Formats: sequence, C-alpha cells, structure tokens
Amino acid sequence: MDVELQARFNAQIALEHAAERAYLQMSAWAEAHDYNGSATWLRSQAAEEGEHARLFMDHVLDRDGEVTLTPLEAPRADFDDLLAVFVAALEHERKVTGAIGELYAAATEARAYPSLPLLTWFLEEQVEEEASVSTIVGELEKVIDDPSAVLLLDRELPGRREGASGSDRH
Ligand SMILES: [Fe+2]
Ligand SMILES: [Fe+2]
Repeated sequence: MDVELQARFNAQIALEHAAERAYLQMSAWAEAHDYNGSATWLRSQAAEEGEHARLFMDHVLDRDGEVTLTPLEAPRADFDDLLAVFVAALEHERKVTGAIGELYAAATEARAYPSLPLLTWFLEEQVEEEASVSTIVGELEKVIDDPSAVLLLDRELPGRREGASGSDRH
C-alpha cells in the first residue's frame, strides 16, 4: 500500500475510534441525566464506530499495509442539554464524511482502485448516519423547552435503531 495513503487510512482508523469514544462519553452523559433511551442509542452508535475502525484496519492489512494506532484526545464530556449532545454528534458525523471524501480522493489519485468499493460503502453509510442524527437534532430543536416531550422522544430512540436498514458490511 502507498505510504501516504496508508497514513491516511491510519488517520481514519483514529477518527473512527475517536467517534466511538465520543459516543460512549455521550451515552454516559445521557444515562447520568436519565435519558436512558438516548444512552442506549448512543451506545449502539459507539459499537458501530468501533466496527468501522476494525473494517478499516482489516482493509489496510488485506492490502499488505501496516496498522498503527495512536493516542487519542479525551472526548467532550460536558453538555448543556440533550440537544447539545446530538448537535455534537451531527458535527462529528459531518467531519467523518469529509474525511472519508478526502480518503476517496487520495485513493483515486494513488490509483488504489481496490480501496474504492469500501470507501463507497462508507460514504453511503455516512449519508444514512448524517440523516438519522440530523432528524433527531431537528426534532429536539422543536421540543427542547418541553421536558415531557423530550422524554417521549428519548424513550423512542432505541426503537429507531432496530428499524434502521441493515447495511451491515459482513
Ligand atoms: Fe464511522
Ligand atoms: Fe458514524
């Protein structure tokens, strides 16, 4: 594998691990504030990000590259309310989408065509993730001043994940 591309893949692995930890920290905040539905949703999201990191790791190894894990910054732990949690999640997802786009461009430039199907799958996955988080943000913006409505939405979130389309890459 091209050395520069390998470095980019390793940076992506770090970003997925950072996303995993960001979601774990958010789920801890949610649970501590009695938003147990959101906590469940965020924890499944964290598990998915860990799986993303492993998919990228497997790909680097399949292409005879070297995987290097790096130290990570502590994720944000303090949020004003549940809306702030999901706004932060949406920002993170957008950042990841941008990074995968850059990776796609770099892989194309390096003529690493065997990497493109994986990256295309990830781009599709990001469209789904951004859309689902963006919907939650929009809904929370409408009800954030009404605690009973926020609790109702919170209770509903775990069910949405079960209904999510099965785009598992296995
Ligand atoms: Fe991810
Ligand atoms: Fe994600």
